[in-house]
Amino acid sequence: MAPGSGLGLVREKLAAAQGVVVLTGAGISADSGVPTFRGTDGLWRNFRAEDLATPGAFAQDPRLVWEWYNWRRELIATKRPNAAHEAVAEMERQHPQFWLITQNVDGLHRAAGSRKLSEIHGNIWMVRCTGCRRVVENRDVPIQILPKCTACHSLLRPHIVWFGESLAEEDLRRSDAALRSCDLCLIIGTSGVVYPAAGFASIAKEAGAFVVEINLDVTPHTSLVDVSLQGRAKDVVPLLVCA
Ligand code: OAD
Repeated sequence: MAPGSGLGLVREKLAAAQGVVVLTGAGISADSGVPTFRGTDGLWRNFRAEDLATPGAFAQDPRLVWEWYNWRRELIATKRPNAAHEAVAEMERQHPQFWLITQNVDGLHRAAGSRKLSEIHGNIWMVRCTGCRRVVENRDVPIQILPKCTACHSLLRPHIVWFGESLAEEDLRRSDAALRSCDLCLIIGTSGVVYPAAGFASIAKEAGAFVVEINLDVTPHTSLVDVSLQGRAKDVVPLLVCA
């Protein structure tokens, strides 16, 4: 992190804040060893997420899409929350008016103890029946390809929001309400290119919140936030929380 960064200011703002919202992306889990989507290590057999995480890709070749998710499940199953996930869980304990919005499907925030959260893109450990739509937890690693619903025997799909699909109404409503009423909004480890989450920082800013970005790189958020802290999430986020 560069000297003279706004770290001290952000610590003060967080300590004084009533309402706190944290938005996270793949960068917070990168420090646990989970590949990001737009980094080169996230590529599987040279497919991009946008090639596989779509209803069209699943309709055309469900085996291929399940093989990709099986690869991701095998990888994520070996990973543990890092100091940044733990610091976010600590913020929840310190701030009664707190909401975490994560785009990550890896479940690492829950594993770290976060409970007030919307997993707006779903959870890789949940599956949904394409027939009866029942949603159940499934932690099989490897998962049987192609997995079938035990109730109606239709094909199961990952309970993940794919490109071209809408977020759950309840997640959108809760996230929107939290963003509009918070004093401080932390945007951690997201490239800020996938909507609607890419628009969340602007919602908080326009509603009057102090908005902070923590990222390794410059993103579309960097020019609109009040403070941009460049560094690894696992190094920076724990420094923001008062012991
Ligand atoms: P991306 O892979 O697009 O972006 C990861 C961001 O994290 C980048 O801006 C990196 O600079 C930053 N980063 C990487 N390592 C970091 C570290 N150690 N500390 C801090 N920042 C770091 O991931 P997302 O923004 O989460 O959707 O992608 C958004 C959505 O696109 C995902 O949820 C996924 C994807 O397609 C679905 O699967 C539906």
